[in-house]
Amino acid sequence: MSVQSAMFQRLFQRRHRTVSGMHDYNIEYVPYSRDRLDEIIELMLDTFFTREPLAMSVSSAPGSSREDVLNWLRPCISGWTHEVMLLAVDADRDKLVGATLNNVITAEDRDTWSWPRHANTEYARLVFGFTEELGHDVDVFSHFGATRVLHRCMTAVHPDYHHQGIAKVLVDTSSFELARKEGCEAVVAGVTHRAAQKILITQGFEVLQELPYLDSKTLTNSPYFDETRLGHHRSAKLMGISLTDS
Ligand SMILES: CC(C)(COP(=O)(O)OP(=O)(O)OC[C@H]1O[C@@H](n2cnc3c(N)ncnc32)[C@H](O)[C@@H]1OP(=O)(O)O)[C@@H](O)C(=O)NCCC(=O)NCCS
Repeated sequence: MSVQSAMFQRLFQRRHRTVSGMHDYNIEYVPYSRDRLDEIIELMLDTFFTREPLAMSVSSAPGSSREDVLNWLRPCISGWTHEVMLLAVDADRDKLVGATLNNVITAEDRDTWSWPRHANTEYARLVFGFTEELGHDVDVFSHFGATRVLHRCMTAVHPDYHHQGIAKVLVDTSSFELARKEGCEAVVAGVTHRAAQKILITQGFEVLQELPYLDSKTLTNSPYFDETRLGHHRSAKLMGISLTDS
């Protein structure tokens, strides 16, 4: 481990207690590492794609199997900007329990940033079609007067570790400290889960656009959309914050 990453680990080391006080976890926040890629993918397949509201609502579409998702997810993660990603590890068990996967986008990526070109199944078309619909009317680069923007792609925390503030630390640290370090002038995210929306609102993000799931043409025109799987989630929000104000 480099001196820099050892310092980074110490800097972000936190101790968390569950609400019931039954468990005492020693959570460390560490930079992305290629060695953890398989674990990151497993976490996303087991947690993100089985609990994130949009993915849940179209989970019967062709192309939603683990193998199909893996085909586009692995190259996506490999191609995103590793310097602005952050992992949460249960240090006592050396187990990955959370991850925020992000990407730095520039004004030249304006037309392509929300849709990975190699994701071409019906399931991916619905997920990314919805994401594109959500961001359609907003040019985040001109809105923030920015040329480099952090795009928050995916965040997930293992269910055994929910409600301990882990997502909050992941989102906070990557949106502000890591994004600034990489020269980003703004942060943007398509946020589907109410807990994640709450985190970003608390951090001062503004809502740039809101799209109720039942108003989405992408979803409601699809025979695979099942609104009953959305649970208590009603709308997705495109959220953003400037890093150059104040
Ligand atoms: C969303 C997710 C990352 C939150 O992780 P977490 O570590 O449990 O979140 P935190 O403990 O940091 O909680 C942050 C805030 O959200 C609230 N919150 C957490 N889970 C919640 C839930 N299921 N419903 C409503 N609010 C919730 C917490 O109360 C907390 O607010 P508070 O500090 O004011 O009490 C996690 O539920 C997850 O992995 N979900 C599946 C993937 C997903 O949907 N990712 C986000 C896509 S936009």
